[in-house]
Amino acid sequence: MGIRSVIELGDVRLRSYASPIRHIAEPDLQSLIDDLLVTTAAKNGVGIAAPQVAEGLQLFIVASRPNLRYPEAPTMEPTAMINPQILSHSDDRVKGWEGCLSVPGLRGLVPRYREIEVTYQDRYGHQHRRYLKDFIARIFQHEYDHLQGKVFLDRVEHPDGILTEVEYQKRFDLS
Ligand code: NI
Repeated sequence: MGIRSVIELGDVRLRSYASPIRHIAEPDLQSLIDDLLVTTAAKNGVGIAAPQVAEGLQLFIVASRPNLRYPEAPTMEPTAMINPQILSHSDDRVKGWEGCLSVPGLRGLVPRYREIEVTYQDRYGHQHRRYLKDFIARIFQHEYDHLQGKVFLDRVEHPDGILTEVEYQKRFDLS
């Protein structure tokens, strides 16, 4: 199918719990993964979760790469993470600005755990257990929230922590 259309804030399907995936090898699931990878690349995202394309499944893509706000972000092969879990996390949290393909035009200042220990299955069904930190940990927590029906705006702690994209660009002189 290729690039999927992304549903936006207000669509109730963004607010549902995603279901665990049992049959990873199924052709429909494999093509959904391919579509999510293509969609992430086409929309210049660093991640996308299946519920954002109206598929209520525990699956997301993490695709970190350096960007203006996170110049130190590692470049990684975009990775499909299936049935992800957060096993433990650091005590400390860091605030960072986030955006979301399902919340166009807005940015929010969101606290996230600096480090997390996670498990997930890859698209071949292999189980992984990894420590993630900084930007990749942030992406993981953002996408994991989508599987619980949450978006980043739910985690903004103060009204000053929401900006339009235009004001965000101005404030950080990114244009
Ligand atoms: Ni998002």
